Amino acid sequence: MKFFIDTANIDQIKEAQDLGILDGVTTNPSLMAKEGITGEENIKNHYIKICEIVDGDVSAEVISTDFEGIVKEGEALAQLHDQIVVKVPMIKEGIKAIKYFSEKGIRTNCTLVFSVGQALLAAKAGATYVSPFIGRLDDISTDGLNLIEDIRLVYDNYMFETQILAASVRHTMHIIDCAKLGADVMTGPLSSIEGLLKHPLTDSGLEKFLADYNKNN
Ligand code: E4P
Repeated sequence: MKFFIDTANIDQIKEAQDLGILDGVTTNPSLMAKEGITGEENIKNHYIKICEIVDGDVSAEVISTDFEGIVKEGEALAQLHDQIVVKVPMIKEGIKAIKYFSEKGIRTNCTLVFSVGQALLAAKAGATYVSPFIGRLDDISTDGLNLIEDIRLVYDNYMFETQILAASVRHTMHIIDCAKLGADVMTGPLSSIEGLLKHPLTDSGLEKFLADYNKNN
């Protein structure tokens, strides 16, 4: 399972990269705005900065919603760095653009996916990644994990190569459940990844080992 961090915060990206287990970064316009990154040039420079920190894919989202606009923006983003994956919304024009990009060898992440039907379309269009937003489904009292399970089944039935990128991961148990269900990738906050480290028996066990060592040395 690949681990992506879902942020545009440079310090957190560096911290995750230093752990040695980071496979990539996802961003979106809200995450860029949260870091105060505004204006076309600043946004592009920020993507390049992220690419220079991580060894792996960096999703950069288009703002346009028409085919020509998505293609123009996506081609410019893809030219910034070879780690860039163009993030395209799950809309009609987006599907057309994903098909276009896949024929041009430009990698894509189909975002804002909330149903199996949408995931099927994304795979047929040749998306590199499909991003089902599990946390946002949980927010409206729908089981986000069911969606991961169903997409896995459908993709395996037809051997689609599109990778399931479990997005909108909110906490550590989401990561564990997505791993059990066979998601190819997960993207979440640093806290959700660091939560995997924690177990009270590890803490008490280590405390005892160190105390016993110190008693005798
Ligand atoms: C995915 O790529 C999105 O950036 C992200 O996971 C959305 O998460 P949220 O629902 O926590 O905003």
